[in-house]
Amino acid sequence: DRGAYPYYMLKEIDEQPAVLHRIQKAYLESGDKPAISPDLLEAMKQADRLYIVGAGTSYHAGLVGKQLFEKLTEIPTEVVLASEFAYADPMLSKHPFFIFLTQSGETADSRQVLVRVNEEWHAPSLTITNVENSTLYREATYQLLLNAGPEIAVASTKAYTAQIAVEAVVAKALGMARDVEVAKNFDLQRELSLAANAIQAIVDEKAKIKEIAHEDLAKTRNAFYIGRGVDYFVALEAALKLKEISYIQAEGFASGELKHGTIALIEDQTPVIALITQGKTASHTRSNIQEVKSRGAQVLAIVSEELAKPGDKIVIPTISELLMPLISVIPAQLLAYYASLERGYNVDQPRNLAKSVTVE
Ligand code: F6R
Repeated sequence: DRGAYPYYMLKEIDEQPAVLHRIQKAYLESGDKPAISPDLLEAMKQADRLYIVGAGTSYHAGLVGKQLFEKLTEIPTEVVLASEFAYADPMLSKHPFFIFLTQSGETADSRQVLVRVNEEWHAPSLTITNVENSTLYREATYQLLLNAGPEIAVASTKAYTAQIAVEAVVAKALGMARDVEVAKNFDLQRELSLAANAIQAIVDEKAKIKEIAHEDLAKTRNAFYIGRGVDYFVALEAALKLKEISYIQAEGFASGELKHGTIALIEDQTPVIALITQGKTASHTRSNIQEVKSRGAQVLAIVSEELAKPGDKIVIPTISELLMPLISVIPAQLLAYYASLERGYNVDQPRNLAKSVTVE
């Protein structure tokens, strides 16, 4: 039931602080040590490489997860697109462990990889999904639930943030089991509370984002999101959100790559939305902003408070850089939502798309 909400998507965007609290409750009640089964942790400890498999938004959550797993567990992690990996000839490591990210648990492309994992590669696997007893839930060795509650809108929002949060939970538990210092010192309980508060602060000011969507996205033919590192991965997700419900041709680019070709597409008034949440690369992305500005782009920045400069339009609270994708994606979800509304589309049911894609 969407209650007073005009669309499920807005309700689901608003639910994200509550979803993070549910994840805390499900996995972090018992203090510092996440409630993850010892069997699962033992199986993951044997791995010399983690493979995260997903499609669409779930793949984007996997990209963000790579850094969480590598920083917190020190196990090399690869992120693969299910539809590509299903028919690839990968040089697997000796002891691979597969993590499937899937909101529905029914995505055919992801399932095809799981079939190979079980029948050909005989490797252990974990499915992280929102749907208990779904196909990928049943067929994996281990399973964890997202606890996001039903996601009805075709465009995924709360499942994406839930996936990142649960990846953080698993990475923290595994890192602690492996005695990794960074994991031991990472106060995930506190970070998720800060993240929930930060998201709440952004959704409370959604009128501002609506205004920006009206000014900069209502009429445009195309738009670009740029960023570096995890900001780039959020740029990919932000662009997917915008294109699937507003039909604006939107692309996410690594900001340093723009000048190697894509910058040719920048015209007068082309919206370029820059994500800046990582101290190490902030000044580089700022230079890339200058490059597109001087070619006429209409630049919008989504910046963490700590890195903000006068004139930045969307300033978001700062939490641990590892978890900033939980925060920086929220204005992008809202921009997509309001751009779709402005252009007069059915936000929850975009053309040509189904909620779960059960064909390869
Ligand atoms: C985008 C979106 C899709 C799904 C993708 C995978 O908003 O919803 O890109 O993320 O089809 O679906 P799941 O996560 O159910 O495997």
